[in-house]
Amino acid sequence: VTQLRIGIAGLGTVGVGVMQLLSDNAAIVKARTGKDLVVSAVSSRDKTRDRGVSLDGIDWHDDARDLAVADNVDVVLELIGGSDGIAKEVCEIALGAGKDVVTANKALIAHHGAALGKLATNNNAALLFEAAVAGGIPVIKTLREGLAANEIKSVAGILNGTCNYILTEMEKTGRDFADVLEEAQEKGYAEADPSFDVGGIDAAHKLAIIASLAFGVPPTMDDLFIEGIEHVTYEDITFARELGYSVRLIGITKPTENGIERRMHPCLIPEELPLGQVDDVFNAVQINAHPVDTIFLEGRGAGAGPTASSVMADVMDIARGVNVPIFGIVDSSLKSQSFSSMDDVACRYYLRLSVEDKAGVMAAITKELEKADISVETLVQPPHKNGEAAQIVLTTHETTEKKMRAALDTMSALDVIKEKPQLIRIEQS
Ligand code: NDP
Ligand code: HSE
Repeated sequence: VTQLRIGIAGLGTVGVGVMQLLSDNAAIVKARTGKDLVVSAVSSRDKTRDRGVSLDGIDWHDDARDLAVADNVDVVLELIGGSDGIAKEVCEIALGAGKDVVTANKALIAHHGAALGKLATNNNAALLFEAAVAGGIPVIKTLREGLAANEIKSVAGILNGTCNYILTEMEKTGRDFADVLEEAQEKGYAEADPSFDVGGIDAAHKLAIIASLAFGVPPTMDDLFIEGIEHVTYEDITFARELGYSVRLIGITKPTENGIERRMHPCLIPEELPLGQVDDVFNAVQINAHPVDTIFLEGRGAGAGPTASSVMADVMDIARGVNVPIFGIVDSSLKSQSFSSMDDVACRYYLRLSVEDKAGVMAAITKELEKADISVETLVQPPHKNGEAAQIVLTTHETTEKKMRAALDTMSALDVIKEKPQLIRIEQS
């Protein structure tokens, strides 16, 4: 067979990006696969909308479920989005019919990847999702193929382009959070519901997939700690910079003696480290493994072109007949393991407290920290205007989340504390 017929369900940012890439790089794709890759069918909600690409000679399906079983479709690209509903149905129907599926849908894989993987295996079909994690960065292939012989020690990553764009734009220009988010949406970076981006959920979906590939566990959102960037202020970004840190949304996963750690939250990261220098819509993934040691991958984490690049890498693998275990491990070896509790995480902390400017406040705060066995590393009270609450900014030596939470509870109850304390974890590597 010299042709691979592609059905695209969802003609939004990514779907149109794939059509554009197929047309721009048709000769390269043919030379590298030996096949003509043609779009034979598409489906979207609105047939009348001009999407800037030609749909001439391509079958249109009002119902994406029909596309999933169409006779002239060999590979189904699910580019609609959402963990359930139509996206899941399209994948189930296509896999059930023995058709290969490529998706960019991290929500779907994080929630239903194991069941869909079984369905794919039972029907001798491929299920590939390179674009689901970190946009244009080939992180799935790196973990599943490039590092297949390694023992993965840890993975830390900046996994959401929208959040990174917001944090770095706020830092560079002092612009308002909502304003920058709107711009990220216009650029096609954000999810249909952008609270998934800023709430850390989208990045957490990606971390769940990474942990699955790294440690051979089924992808799941159970017990994954998630904190978004909504509470990070320009003030925090500025104070962090003065202390020598960048603020980034970072996901971390590694095996510990209490189970596999998986957490996604804003971090202060030393500005001289690679992760501290990832700006704009870029994502980055730092993998530590034996024997390869440290690998650092960086690239655009969202947007039409970079995401289409990853989708097409999967489609081309199918065209070439590449066959790899879906989660990088033979099905019988994919086993649930316990996840560690956030209480056990040990790190340093940044704390910003809005306080009444009067005698004894500093002593009251340090006393609560001392009671919780937490040692202060740096402490400043920047100048403030009369009538405004004073700010105390401090960093701690390493302590546990459990101790820090206990200290925060008692501190928050003090009369002199005027607002909910701001806590951001500090990562060192
Ligand atoms: P968009 O919102 O731009 O596109 C979604 C598309 O799905 C639209 O064309 C929409 O149709 C179509 N659609 C919605 N409901 C249906 C339905 N019932 N039947 C058929 N089509 C439907 O999203 P993106 O392209 O940004 O994202 C698509 C997927 O890729 C998501 O899973 C997302 O998480 C993922 N992703 C996105 C990235 C990005 O940078 N944007 C990067 C990596 C992954 P219509 O246009 O007619 O309204
Ligand atoms: N909304 C996602 C992001 C798209 O901003 O990273 C890429 O997965």
